[in-house]
Amino acid sequence: MFDPIPRDFAVRTERFNWQFGEKLTLKKPANITFDSIDQIIDRRRTRREFGKLSESQKNTLLWYTSRTIISEIDSNGLEVQHRPAPSAGALHPIHILIHTPENQCYKYLSEEHSLGLCSSDFINSKAIRHKADELVIGELGTLIQLVAEPAITMSKYKHAKSLIYRDAGVVLGYLSIVSEGLGLNLCALGLTGDSFLRKSNSHSQLTGVGLAWVGSRPS
Ligand SMILES: Cc1cc2nc3c(=O)[nH]c(=O)nc-3n(C[C@H](O)[C@H](O)[C@H](O)COP(=O)(O)O)c2cc1C
Repeated sequence: MFDPIPRDFAVRTERFNWQFGEKLTLKKPANITFDSIDQIIDRRRTRREFGKLSESQKNTLLWYTSRTIISEIDSNGLEVQHRPAPSAGALHPIHILIHTPENQCYKYLSEEHSLGLCSSDFINSKAIRHKADELVIGELGTLIQLVAEPAITMSKYKHAKSLIYRDAGVVLGYLSIVSEGLGLNLCALGLTGDSFLRKSNSHSQLTGVGLAWVGSRPS
């Protein structure tokens, strides 16, 4: 695989045009306390039993892993962001989809800290949850799907492919450690989820780059 090279001139392309039904506004989490990072790191394990996530747990996980903290336009005219996780070129090409136990799909809107409901024509949550169950049974868990929009990173870099997969890994790492910090169970999956997107993603602007079950910890 070639090393990425920053382009002399940015190539700006149209962003994927997301369509939503209802939007759910999330609140800034309040009164959250974490153990120290060394305790959380020592305790983190992949855990494969999943209770239902409360709205507050979902909200808090997204806030501490994925929200947009600063958004600005750089000297190349590209939108760059600062979020909890780093991203090559500050471009953040990884979108987060949430497949609920009720088989609904929401996209996390990091700038607004809200969730937009995706139509079942866009992605079939029941089918992707069923596929994920073949690897690890999700029970009442929430299936998180990482979806890359490669053109975002390709706008600034030649040979951007490895950056996109590395960005997805970083997001997964943040989800893992923050889940542990919040006392949630998380299991990453070897599937990319890509084949489920392609069927509805006629212009192929999006690529599946990972899945993970997350849920509350059954007592
Ligand atoms: C990219 C990735 C894919 C994974 N895929 C699976 C999987 O398909 N099934 C599974 O049970 N665990 C999966 N895991 C979890 C690993 O098996 C687990 O991280 C490993 O056994 C180490 O255990 P630990 O996370 O408790 O330290 C995956 C982990 C990663 C990072």
